[in-house]
Amino acid sequence: DAGDPVEFAAYAPSNIALSKYWGKRDRSRNLPLNSSLSISLAEWGSHTEVAPSESGIDQVSLNGEVLDMGTAFASKALKFADLFRAGRAQPLKITTRNTIPTAAGLASSASGFAALTRALCGSFSLSLSEAEMSLIARLGSGSATRSIWHGFVRWDKGRAEDGSDSFATPLDVTWPDFRIAIIPVDVGPKSHSSRDGMNHTVDTSPLFAAWPDQAEADCDFIEAMVREQNFTALGQRAEANALAMHATMQAARPAITYLTQDSWAILERLWAARKNGLEAYATMDAGANVKLIFEAQSQDDVTTLFPEAQVIVPFAG
Ligand code: PMV
Repeated sequence: DAGDPVEFAAYAPSNIALSKYWGKRDRSRNLPLNSSLSISLAEWGSHTEVAPSESGIDQVSLNGEVLDMGTAFASKALKFADLFRAGRAQPLKITTRNTIPTAAGLASSASGFAALTRALCGSFSLSLSEAEMSLIARLGSGSATRSIWHGFVRWDKGRAEDGSDSFATPLDVTWPDFRIAIIPVDVGPKSHSSRDGMNHTVDTSPLFAAWPDQAEADCDFIEAMVREQNFTALGQRAEANALAMHATMQAARPAITYLTQDSWAILERLWAARKNGLEAYATMDAGANVKLIFEAQSQDDVTTLFPEAQVIVPFAG
């Protein structure tokens, strides 16, 4: 039960899954078939402000531009705000600014819905726990569940039919030397949304049957390796998990391919460098960009090999 909205600003980081969320058991509630584990991107994320709209009509802006109500971002944001308005006439002004460089070509739905959840909770003066906010953010976008927290975050798939136990919690681990690099490949809009790609894969890919159990085992293993700070084992498993996810899509009928020739060329270069001793591993999501994980001592080698790399320090401050 919420009162009248007030002005409230919030921030949430974007995140990259080391063990992927791919496939829903409940499509309306964004309940996953498997648990996932991510690393948040520190200052790369979304700043969102929610305020009562003086003009009396809803207004949504993104990166300084007032959006047409027909755009996907505006309609999704307002539909999400309706969860808080619950039928009351409370026009809102929602202002979002992403700090993720556009050139990085990263989707921002994770940080966007997490920041919007925090801002709406604040605006409607709801004092919810972070676990509860994570659960609400999930309704906007699955990966937003994890963006409520910084650092390493696990989203447990949960068992309850209503999703009441499907939210993320942080792992109590700091790893100051942990690094992420984004290798931008294609910064244009993606060919299929992750939602459509996921559902189509679940519905048609004969390889998908092998995914949920393997992904659950990968998630547990990666969590254990994060706790042990065993970088090699973590990296190997994260890369294998991402490639297995893409294999399920490639077997979908018709196939979905987010990875382009340029993505594969980066992987070939990475694998060749790894034979010569480079300790870096790749992960890819529903887009062509390649993300690398490595430790601080490998940073010079990574940026020499990939001059276009944008390096993120997840445990900076
Ligand atoms: O949150 P969504 O619905 O955009 O799905 C995200 C799916 C992946 O990015 C491919 C994997 C993940 O766990 O983030």
